[in-house]
Order: sequence, then C-alpha cells, then structure tokens
Amino acid sequence: MSIQLSNRPTRLEELPGPKGLPFIGNYAQINFQTFHLQLERWAAEYGDFYRVQLAGSQFVVISDVEAASVVLRERPQAFGRRLALQDIFDELGFNGVFSAEDENWRRQRRIVVTALNSAHLHEFYAAMLETTHRLRRRWEKAALAGVAVDLCAELMRYTVDITTQLAFGIDFNTLETDGPIIQHHLDQVFPMLNRRLTSPFPYWRYFRFGRDRALDDAVKAVRAQITDIITSCRARLADSPAALSAPRNFLEAMMAAQASENLAFTDDDIIANAFTLLLAGEDTTANTLAWAIKFFTDYPAMFTQVRAEVDAVLGQASAPESRDQAMRLPLVEAFANETMRLKPVAPLLIFDAKIPIEVGGLMLTPGTGVILLSRGMAIASDNFAQPEQFMPARWLDKTDPAQRVHNAKAFVPFGGGPRFCPGRNLALLEIKVVLAMLCRNFDVEMANEGKAVEEVLAFTMVPSNLWVRFKKRC
Ligand code: HEM
Repeated sequence: MSIQLSNRPTRLEELPGPKGLPFIGNYAQINFQTFHLQLERWAAEYGDFYRVQLAGSQFVVISDVEAASVVLRERPQAFGRRLALQDIFDELGFNGVFSAEDENWRRQRRIVVTALNSAHLHEFYAAMLETTHRLRRRWEKAALAGVAVDLCAELMRYTVDITTQLAFGIDFNTLETDGPIIQHHLDQVFPMLNRRLTSPFPYWRYFRFGRDRALDDAVKAVRAQITDIITSCRARLADSPAALSAPRNFLEAMMAAQASENLAFTDDDIIANAFTLLLAGEDTTANTLAWAIKFFTDYPAMFTQVRAEVDAVLGQASAPESRDQAMRLPLVEAFANETMRLKPVAPLLIFDAKIPIEVGGLMLTPGTGVILLSRGMAIASDNFAQPEQFMPARWLDKTDPAQRVHNAKAFVPFGGGPRFCPGRNLALLEIKVVLAMLCRNFDVEMANEGKAVEEVLAFTMVPSNLWVRFKKRC
C-alpha cells in the first residue's frame, strides 16, 4: 500500500531524532507522566516527522496534519491500536471496542455507535438534566459550607452517573451518595494502564507490586458490579422480551445481538464493553470540563461574556431545559473547543502499523509504532493563528484577519477516521450543559493553595491540584 505525501527520508532510521542509549533507546530520557510534553519539545527540535526508540520499539512521531489524517483514516486495515495495549486490555478483561481490531472491532463498534447516537441522546435529555440538577445541589451545599472541592473528582461523579444511565439504564446516583462509589475503583485503572503501557518489561506477569494487587482488586470490584447490572438487565428483558427488538440502551443492544444468531457476543464481550464505556466516558469528559472551568478562573472577562450568552438563552432556568436550548450556546461551544485545542485529554494518539505502508514518503514495516502529536498540531502556528493564546472567538469568526490561520483538520481531540470517538456528541452535550449550569448559578475561584495546576499524563491528560471554591452567584 502506498500513500505518498512529500519528499521525506524513506527509511525510519534516516529520520532525525534524539540520540538514545543502546537497547533502551530514549527510554531513560522520558518521564511518562509528562511524555507528551517531551515529545512536543522534541518536535520543536526535530520537526514534524522524527524517530524515537523506547526499549525495543521504534516509533515515528508525526505532527504533519496530512500524514496524521492518513493514519487516522487508514484504519483498521493499515493501522491499529498497539499490540501491547491490546494484550494489556485483554488480560484485565476489558478488550472491548477501544482495543478490538478488524471484524471483531466492526461488530462491537456498530452497537456502541447506535447506543450513543442522536436519537438516544434526545430521549436521554430528561435524565441528563436531572443529573445536572443533582450536581448543582451538590455544589450549592459546598458553596454554603465555603469548602474547596476537588474538581475532577466532582465531575467524575457526574460523568459516571450519566454514562451508567445512558449505557446501562442504571442510575448509580454517585452525586448523592456519601459512601463507597465505583469511581474509587475506576480511579485505579488509568494510571496503572499508563504505567503498564510504558513499562519496558511486563513485570506484572511475573510478580505483583502493591499497586498491581490494588488494580486487581479494583477490576474485580467493577467486574462484580457490571455482572450484577447484566443479571438485572437480563431479568428485565425476560419479563419484556419485546425490548429485544427495540433496545433502549447499549446493554440491551448487546443482549439483543447475543440473542441473534449471527452476532454472538459472549458475556465477556458484554462486560469488556461495559467497562470500556465506563472508562471512556468518565475521565475524558470530566477532565475536559475541569480544564474549561480552570479557564473560567483564568479569564474572568471571558467568563462574563459566556455567562451573558447563557443568561440570554436560558432566561430564568438554572440549567438548559432542553437539548435544543443546550445546542443554542455557540460561545459555550467555542469555549469548549478552545479548551480542547490547548488541553486535549488525549494529547497524543499511539498506533502500530499493521501492514507495510508508506506515509509521507516514509516506509513503515508492520509493528512500527506511530505517535500522532494531536496537541502538537493544534498549537502549531502553521495551523492556528496566535496558537498559544486562549481565544474562543477563533471558533466563531474564522474570517477575522487576526485569526486567519485556522486549520480544522489539525484539531482532532476526538481522534478521526473510522475509529473517531463515538461518545463525542454525548461529551459535548455534557460539557455545554454543565458549563451553562455553572454560569447560571455560581462564581468560581481557584483554591489550590498556590500549587501549580500541571498536566499529568495518566492515560488521559489530567490537571493536577485542581481545587476550586464555588460561591452562589450574586
Ligand atoms: C471530552 C470527552 C472525550 C474525548 C476528548 C474523547 C476522546 C477520544 C479519543 C481521542 C478516542 C480515540 C479515537 C481514535 O482512535 O481516532 C476515543 C475513542 C473512544 N471513545 Fe471517546 N472521548 C470522549 C468522551 C467519550 C465518551 C463520553 C464516550 C462514551 C461514553 C466515549 C467512548 C469512546 C469509545 C468507545 C472509543 C473507542 C472507539 C473505537 O476504537 O472505535 N468517549 N475517544
């Protein structure tokens, strides 16, 4: 297969790149909690096509927009998730749509996409609104008590409650639960995934540290909870088999497919995908919201402008009363886009070449790693004017000469091509609804006691030390 883009070296070994050590390559130069920052620094030095070696694996690191589009588009046949990722997900029991490949991926993808489509979101809006009011009441209590809150943890309660209702038809209501909640288990997963994915050697297959045993316990606990949910869903379907022909959520759709002969899913497939949706829906949206709220505190004048738009559209309502109302908030959406341009929760996307393939003149052999610097592309001056500036208006008036450069192809916070994030519409709706609710009801200030808010890569890019204090709006 050949996709020629320009005259670059044809062999990986000819590309520029940071000098490494024998065998471990560049491994010792990297702190994996800030891996993305190091790769972006190297891109500034070596260009939009360079080479790194991590332990035994060779990678090409790409921040060329055309080449990145090719990689995203030529899936699943030419590029796939890393084999190491597939193995790690598999042994943890969540080898669902995110890590599956080829036909196995296709049949799972169809069901997930349908479960998250617009029609389902439309029917779901009432539940989303009620969950948003629970978040508002929770923050009202915090405001009254004058306490600082851990913003990401707060928002993860919200996103888990939304995902479980939409995907499983179950209301966990962790927002109004004081005791143990599923998030405590889910919290263990992403940092450990990051650790294992970046480990030069799969040590956990030979011995387990305390943190590996904690991960085992967390996975076991979530699996038990999902198994209970599946059992009750199956009982509901046995009582009303008609639901099998018109499934109302993802779980029912998986079970309907299980009941049909040509799409036989095992219970393990169902558990793996339930796990996948919980993980994919929780951190990503919560951390994006957290970064956006941080920008509210950084840019109070913009907060006032966004609030004016929300007031005008919502009137007296304390949150958008319909999906239609939430869709009529262009400045809120621009604020969300600008947040994701500068603080994407997936600042890099990592794949393996699956077949011999040429990209941008470079010949890749099967197994070569490909890292797309998604944030790197979004902060390049070739792609966006004044790229380091937080300017939501660039998403509204793309013709303003001061903001001339605006390459939407360089903005891929949800990935691209056939494996584009199927949760995008749900996530954008959650983000708009929560930001609008916040603007209507609260003022917000940082309460991180002087500690810097930093980017930490824990599979997704998480803001550290993000504590805030809400005040009831005057
Ligand atoms: C702001 C929030 C979110 C962001 C930034 C985000 C980002 C991403 C990215 C970058 C990918 C990889 C895409 C690719 O390989 O091209 C992805 C995949 C995926 N996301 Fe999201 N996501 C978000 C929210 C959600 C939500 C709410 C759900 C569902 C509840 C979800 C479900 C998935 C699934 C199932 C995949 C795997 C798709 C596949 O491999 O076919 N995501 N997401």
